[in-house]
Formats: sequence, structure tokens, C-alpha cells
Amino acid sequence: MPSIRSVSTFAVAAAQAVLGLQSPVARDTSLVGQSATCNNKQLSCHNKTVVENLCCFNSPGGSILQTQFWDFNPATGPDDSWTIHGLWPDNCDGTYEQYCDESRQYTNISDILKADGYTDLLSYMNTYWASNTGTAESFWEHEWGKHGTCMSTFDTKCYSDYQPTDEVPDYFQKTVDLFKSLPSYDLLKAAGIVPSTTKTYSLASIQKALKAGHGKKVYVGCTDNNELDELWYFFNVRGSIQTGQFVAAPPLTDSSCPKTGIKYLPKGSTSPSPTATTTTTAPTSTSTGGPFEGKGYLNVITSGSKKGCIISGGTWYTTGTCAGFTTTTTDDGFTLTSSKGLCAVQDGKLTCAAGVTEGSTFSADGSDLSFNGTSSFHADAVPTGSVQAPVSPALIPKPPDWGPHISISGFYILDSPNYTPAPELQTFLNAGPPPVYIGFGSIVLDDPDAMTELMFEAVKKTGRRVLLSKGWGGMGAEGLRNRVPDGVFMLGNVPHD
Ligand SMILES: *[C@@H]1O[C@H](CO)[C@@H](O)[C@H](O)[C@H]1NC(C)=O
Ligand SMILES: *[C@@H]1O[C@H](CO)[C@@H](O)[C@H](O)[C@H]1NC(C)=O
Ligand SMILES: *[C@@H]1O[C@H](CO)[C@@H](O)[C@H](O)[C@H]1NC(C)=O
Repeated sequence: MPSIRSVSTFAVAAAQAVLGLQSPVARDTSLVGQSATCNNKQLSCHNKTVVENLCCFNSPGGSILQTQFWDFNPATGPDDSWTIHGLWPDNCDGTYEQYCDESRQYTNISDILKADGYTDLLSYMNTYWASNTGTAESFWEHEWGKHGTCMSTFDTKCYSDYQPTDEVPDYFQKTVDLFKSLPSYDLLKAAGIVPSTTKTYSLASIQKALKAGHGKKVYVGCTDNNELDELWYFFNVRGSIQTGQFVAAPPLTDSSCPKTGIKYLPKGSTSPSPTATTTTTAPTSTSTGGPFEGKGYLNVITSGSKKGCIISGGTWYTTGTCAGFTTTTTDDGFTLTSSKGLCAVQDGKLTCAAGVTEGSTFSADGSDLSFNGTSSFHADAVPTGSVQAPVSPALIPKPPDWGPHISISGFYILDSPNYTPAPELQTFLNAGPPPVYIGFGSIVLDDPDAMTELMFEAVKKTGRRVLLSKGWGGMGAEGLRNRVPDGVFMLGNVPHD
């Protein structure tokens, strides 16, 4: 079998001689369509019989996607260019494999490229293959480890004299080359589709502009707020990814954008409405003085009109009943309390719960609620149906390769059940000072009996009264029942709020 490695080396020399270029970027371009490596004429996903040599035929991942981002907030890459997400194999049907080779989850992509002399490629990647959540290096590791290792033509056996990581530059080089051949920004611009904070575009016009460049329909991705942010160009390949011929293919996934009203925001801009929301109280009959005195509702006003309200846990809900909030005047403003408890902005997120011990101080800006000098509140998405917002992006940012069909839903706070403690528990609670609660939730314990005994010892030493939750770890087995010391109550399943 001819070796990809030796053929590429040969081609580098040829490209340099013809083009006078030192850049390895020129290398693969010169290889496209070369049949010397792979004589296979079979287009991936189009075979009617079994193809044996998977070094020259991508299978099962025969549909290859070059995916691109429009990261506008936080912005990555140049203002007038889309950036690279990755190169992914799909199984010709919209499903895909991932993390196909544990032993090739490399953590030194930059070093590999440097060691192999791909410094121009690396510097291009630093500009155009950026992450908006972590380092570029970790993003590249992720793309290779998750997707690259599933491309059959990158298998180590497809390389003669294979040395570890030999296939890595080929993956990144091919991805960059394809990306350069798909200049999304320019294709859109040629059709008058340019970033704007005020204009919106139709899906049909975007798809028409991209099809003019690609030859086939392109998958167009939007955020939940109808902001254009991702494109997937589909291909089938004749031969290997490294040296084969890429043939444009129709998408296997439906676009996630609406038909009209698509925003294409300039990089660095934050989305205007409806994510920027201000809250205000509705005038209520019990309200006597200003809008934030006594009891009332917190309505959510977006683009000048009311869209749902804040419910008792502090989340935004567009359907359902608004929660009543009570204000308590403080030195420099007021605190808010719902049926769940005091409200505070914690981790950037409004929360009202029994566990909140120190309520945030709010103030009024006209009829708008204001916190820390601003009366704008933000949410990741406008909630619909039974979905609630906001979500704290600080807690778990959405990984870059989770498609638009995956939403991070945030927290759900159950309504407090109607609960009366069992008589034994009530008796215990009444019998002395408030006890300390000890519990391990659902953590599985290696030796629950020993752990229980250890807790008993600790309780005896401290002299505290304790509620010890059995949890899911098997603590407090029946066999230890007679050894429960005084001042300890073994707690079963009880509400924790
Ligand atoms: C195409 O080739 C692959 C790889 O050998 C094989 O798994 C698949 O069944 C083939 N498809 C058809 C329709 O024969
Ligand atoms: C990168 O890491 C692999 C092991 O994962 C190792 O074999 C290789 O030598 C490293 N390459 C460089 C240039 O550090
Ligand atoms: C209040 O705003 C300042 C800057 O505007 C910020 O540094 C600070 O973290 C904010 N405080 C809270 C509690 O959000």
C-alpha cells in the first residue's frame, strides 16, 4: 500500500518548486485529487458494496463536516471572518461516532505541530481556530480527540513507518485548507448579508448566499435568540481525508434558525432585546406608595412589553402564576422576599431560597428594579412553556460542540411540599437545642457501617445533637440500630428546604 506519509513529503517538494512557497499550507492544496495515494474511486456514503480498504475510504464516518463559528460575544477571531469549529465525521445518516481511540487523545497539539515544522499552520490556527471558553490548545485537543480519531483514514495503520502523532498535522492542515476554501463572511457579504445590530435576515437568503459558494445547501445554526452563530458544510470524500477529493453534499441536519428575523450581530456586541430584560413591579391594589413598597409582583419587561414574570425561586417564567414579593426597607434600598425565602444575586443569578441568609440590597430606578447600579437583567434565553430562565453561564458554560438542539436548562426548584415531621422526629426536635444536620447525599460510601460508627464517635466527643441522614450510601444499617447514641436521630427521606 502506498504511504500517505511519503506521498505528502513528495508533494511538499513539488508544491514548493512550482509555487515557490515555504508554507506547509500550500502542501495539501497541491495534493487534492491526487490518485497516487488512493486509487479508490468510490465516493464515501455512496458505495453499494462493502469497501475493504478504509485507509482510502472513510467509513463509517463518510460524511465530513467542516464546521464554523460566528462567536460574537465573547468574540473570537477577526471581525470580518468566521472561525473554525472543526472537521467532523458523520455516519451518512446524521449520527456519529466520537472518541474512537483512547490511546490517541493527545494533549500536545501545539508541540506536535511545532516539532513537525508547521509553524505557519499553528499561527493561522491561533487566529482562526480560537475558543471562546478555554485555551485554543484545549479546543484543538478536544476536536482531534473527539472527532479526528474517528476518521478511518487517519488510523495509524494507514501510515507506513508510523510514529505516534504522525497523523495529527494532516488533520489540522486539512481542516484549515477546507476552511480557507469556505469563506463564509465573504459569501454572505457578497449577498449583502453583513453583521448588524439592527437588521435581520431570512434563512432562505443566507442559504442562497452560502450555496453559491459551496454548491450545496449548508446547515445554518442560530442561538435560542435567533442569532446566527454556526455553519456546517457537508462533504463526501473520494479517497482519504488527507489526499482525497472533497465533494460537496447536502446537510444531514435541519437548520436551527427561524425562517425570518435572523440576527447576524457584529463581533463584540451583546444581543439587544429580548435577552436584555428589565423587571418592574406591576401596580397592585395593595400598593400604596412607590412601586417597590409592600407586596407586589416582579414583571419581566422586554422590548417594552411584559413577557412573563419572576417566580418564587427567582427564575423567569413566561407562563404560569407570578409570585408575590415583599420588600423590606434597608439603609440604602430594600430586600426582596418570596415564599421561598430571601432573594440574592448569587453567582450572577437571582435566587430566592430558604438558604439565602443575606438578601441582596436592591433599589428602584423609576418603576424598574435595580441591582448594583443597573436595571438591566440578562438571561441566556427567553423561556417558553415550562422552561425557566435564567441560567448562570458561570456555573457550566455550554461546550462548544454541543449543537443548537441541546439547551442547558438551569436549575429547577420544586415547590415546597406540604410537610409535617413524623412524631418521633418532632419529639426529637422538641427535646433539646437545634441539632446539626449531617448527610452525604447520594455519595456511595466504601464502608457505611464503619462510617456510621465514626460519626457516632464524633457525635459523642462533641456532645452535639445530630440529625444523621442515611442518604444513599447505606449509612445506619439495621444492625447498628441499638447502638445509636443519645442525641442522634437517624433521618430517612425528608424535604431539605
Ligand atoms: C460501504 O462500505 C462500508 C465499509 O466497508 C460498509 O460497512 C457498508 O456496508 C458499505 N455499504 C453498502 C451499501 O454496501
Ligand atoms: C506528544 O505526546 C505524545 C504522547 O501522547 C508523544 O508520543 C509525542 O512525542 C509528543 N510530541 C511532542 C512533540 O511533544
Ligand atoms: C457590581 O458591579 C461591579 C462593577 O460594575 C462588579 O465589579 C461587582 O462584582 C458587582 N457586584 C455584584 C455583587 O455583582
